[in-house]
Amino acid sequence: MAPAEPNAPPFRPKGKLPHFDDELEGWKGYIEWEKYPEKKKQVEEILKQYDFPEPPEFQLVPLPKTNPILTGERFKQYHYATGLGHLVDTSWQYVLKEKAEDMVHVLQFPYNGEPPGDRLVSTEITRNEDFFVRNHGGVPEIDADKYFLEIDGLVNNPKRLTLADLQNEELFPRETKVVSLQCSGTRRLEQIRQYPGDGDELINAPWGEGAIGTARWTGVSLKKVIKHCGGLKDGAKHIELFGADTYFKKGKVYNYVVSVPWRKIKIHEVLLAWEMNGKPLPKIHGFPLRAVVYGYIGARSCKWLYRIRGITDPSEAPVQRKEYLYYTPQIGKQNALYSNAFSIQDMPVSSAIISPKDMDVITHDGKVKLRGWAFSGGGHWPIRVEVSPDGGAIWYEVPTENMSTKYYYAWRLWEIDLPLDPEGWLEFCVRTWDNAMNTQPTYVRSAWNWDLHVTSSCHRIRVYSVNRSKPLTAARLKALEEHGIPLTPITKPLPIELETDEQYQASMAEQCGRDPLE
Ligand code: MTE
Repeated sequence: MAPAEPNAPPFRPKGKLPHFDDELEGWKGYIEWEKYPEKKKQVEEILKQYDFPEPPEFQLVPLPKTNPILTGERFKQYHYATGLGHLVDTSWQYVLKEKAEDMVHVLQFPYNGEPPGDRLVSTEITRNEDFFVRNHGGVPEIDADKYFLEIDGLVNNPKRLTLADLQNEELFPRETKVVSLQCSGTRRLEQIRQYPGDGDELINAPWGEGAIGTARWTGVSLKKVIKHCGGLKDGAKHIELFGADTYFKKGKVYNYVVSVPWRKIKIHEVLLAWEMNGKPLPKIHGFPLRAVVYGYIGARSCKWLYRIRGITDPSEAPVQRKEYLYYTPQIGKQNALYSNAFSIQDMPVSSAIISPKDMDVITHDGKVKLRGWAFSGGGHWPIRVEVSPDGGAIWYEVPTENMSTKYYYAWRLWEIDLPLDPEGWLEFCVRTWDNAMNTQPTYVRSAWNWDLHVTSSCHRIRVYSVNRSKPLTAARLKALEEHGIPLTPITKPLPIELETDEQYQASMAEQCGRDPLE
């Protein structure tokens, strides 16, 4: 294989590039693959001709300090080779248009990005511009008035519904719900730092704590839509959700397809949403219609939804069957199968300290403010958040009045003024208990897994504590100020004497000198 980014060779077409038409008028960037095996085969043959750049190595070497952190050369070149280079450009245009300027671009294409930490926990409901994005391909541009949703497979009366049909309150009662979406890659960096795992062709993006967000979604319950189609036929137990974007895996092309069990839909935990925080869905978040699956891994909340199909078993599509798998720690490159992992659905309880940040130097007067988020999936909600200043021996409970609103399906933001006497390097950590008394594994290693999903262990950060309420520290800080010497970086040697000879002698006299008596 050709070298990985950043040294990937530029794309060179082999002959004339192919052209694949958009499937429908008014649906730019939607190329239907699932209905056309011969078209899929054609792509397979094209991809075989190329020596694509290797996926980047970002686990065994330090991550670049650039933004975008990774650029995704290999995936870009899959698109160039199949005549779909315009999707790469469109995707980036929507990042620039719809996302906050200072997003952390974890992966440029397919776009994966998270907001800076301070804004992540500044509001209980995440602003659309700040909501993380996790894409597997480009961003289809679908006209609302040309849009329709196909409902077929094991349903009694297959139908085609326009957006206007779905929004017709005489047909479907409208619902608004506050729901958090969390990518199973949230906090993956901690797993990578402990032990490298699968790099993944699509790139197991090196997410920080920001691949989670909370929005007020408006739409209709998927159950109502299925009922409107006469309900499911006997034997139907799952609903397959088709997204209009293009996705590549192991030399083949697909649309983004996942499935959700009917038992989840039956209890009204799947919404077909067209609004995010009172505004039409941004294009990058699935306009005009997406699924929002409460309490499940974000991967099932299919964006740019164009088809819904009743099926008997979980979808055979690669995103459902071959990805988002959770392995035991003994499984890795040497023995991983699709079938010896479990398929991630409910998200477990987890939390993160967002402020202060790992490696911060904190000057305080005996108390430090900590802020963060806490979430539990599967219909559970955070009840108690505890933080520890010493790596997990002593825990302080976050006062309930310092936790944001309790929702069935959303995170709670929290803050605490943590009493802090000790100085020097400390390990702060957080753990959350949900309403079912689930709590988090103690260490990253306790739940490390080959595909680096669901980092649910207690979130740990290293901070350097400088306690101004200690007389010696207060005096040193004052001296530094007088000399105009900054405290940070702490590694920079002190240009002033630590004490005078008189002070040293007085102290030695008090300690009875350096030497023992006899
Ligand atoms: N739906 C489609 N069609 N294509 C995608 O790439 N990504 C999934 C899910 N739905 C994806 C998709 C994943 S892995 C996650 S975590 C969520 O969308 C992220 O939703 P967001 O990008 O709106 O935050």
